[in-house]
Amino acid sequence: ADPDPVQDFCVAAAPGGHYNSSYSTTYPGFPCKPSSLVVSDDFFFAAHASGASTDNSNGAAVTPGNVEAFPGLNTLGLSINRVDLAPGGVNPLHTHPRSAELVHVEAGEMLVGFVSTEGRFYSKVVRAGESFVIPRGMMHFQYNVGAGAARAMTVFNSQLPGVVLAAQSLFGAEPEIPDAVLAKSFQVDADTIKLLKSKFRKG
Ligand code: GLV
Ligand code: MN
Repeated sequence: ADPDPVQDFCVAAAPGGHYNSSYSTTYPGFPCKPSSLVVSDDFFFAAHASGASTDNSNGAAVTPGNVEAFPGLNTLGLSINRVDLAPGGVNPLHTHPRSAELVHVEAGEMLVGFVSTEGRFYSKVVRAGESFVIPRGMMHFQYNVGAGAARAMTVFNSQLPGVVLAAQSLFGAEPEIPDAVLAKSFQVDADTIKLLKSKFRKG
């Protein structure tokens, strides 16, 4: 989904920088580190050798491997995450505005699913060695339906896919979306919206 590169590589000069920072106003992505300073380690990423803790309310951890974490990806149009799920854990409903996602399960079994623009739900239980693809922009999740821990690598055709977390963006927005808008949108009363906001708003 990203533009084609116009040189062999363009190692991002601002590792850990933000897409909206002054560094990233150069299109596409980040400015290039001078070639004379580029080293093999710029093309290497070790952060997925272990997973983050799944000891949280979702029982899930996503360790990103996008251009912000892995500068060598800049302008190459791809990235990779590691997803760890405790038994019963869910990587909650979200979309990626700039990328499709290939989910390759490495351990355990996950129900992986997305909803199309026609409102159709597509899902499969995906086991170690198997893959499932989420088309760009579709609402999706992974849910550990096995007895043990589950792990997947997720691969994107964007260096920075972007994440819109469904519940967080609707009920945790800052400043808040008016209760009346959410209540009408979800066809429930304002008290139900307040309850949901209490779970997703920080303040
Ligand atoms: C999984 O859905 C991910 O976005 O890494
Ligand atoms: Mn995803």
